[in-house]
Amino acid sequence: MIRGTSEARDRVPPVGRRTSPPPEALRGEIASVLIGPSRLRRRIAQMGARITADYSDKEVVVIALLNGTLVFLADLIRTMDFPFRIETLRVSSYSGGTPDSSPRIREDLPRRIRGRHVLVVDDILDTGRTLAAVTRRLRQARPASLRICVLLDKTIPRSVDIRPDYVGFRVPDVFVVGYGLDFAERHRNLPFVAELRADTH
Ligand code: XMP
Repeated sequence: MIRGTSEARDRVPPVGRRTSPPPEALRGEIASVLIGPSRLRRRIAQMGARITADYSDKEVVVIALLNGTLVFLADLIRTMDFPFRIETLRVSSYSGGTPDSSPRIREDLPRRIRGRHVLVVDDILDTGRTLAAVTRRLRQARPASLRICVLLDKTIPRSVDIRPDYVGFRVPDVFVVGYGLDFAERHRNLPFVAELRADTH
């Protein structure tokens, strides 16, 4: 049994807008850098330490939602000091769907997570519809526990009840890119989290 959520024990750093200007070459598309590489590295190390403390004696399956989570996942798992299995899920955005939409998951996944401690890792919690639909579906497979870890939590009112257990940063309600997050497949490779210029999207 896993008790208490880490978010309750942890103060999630808020991120303001206009933290620092983007590199010259990106000024046409990027409004500002919100979270730089060293801040990302430090916070992710804290998250990994908490996750390690919570899970080190358990049989854990990490389920990463692709593609936006790839960069975060790669850095996070290198701060997690215990054995775990990794599974990936590709889900399309549910922003246009209803909170009840049920995403299709790989057929063998329920068998792989039954009775295991599941940690779902995602890049950003926005409307919450994607994670609500995915976790509802995963819970049907009866894992021993299910927790949610997101790098970014947008500060917006939500109609779905979703409470992540591990949160990297709270970000303002702007479109963010970089560090795995894309706009039309661009900017995933930036080493920082940035605000996309409003006139770009
Ligand atoms: P929600 O929580 O709205 O988010 O279901 C679903 C997925 O949409 C993507 N997303 C974003 N991607 N910048 C991005 O690059 C954003 O500001 C943003 N908001 C949502 C993301 O993949 C998330 O998992």
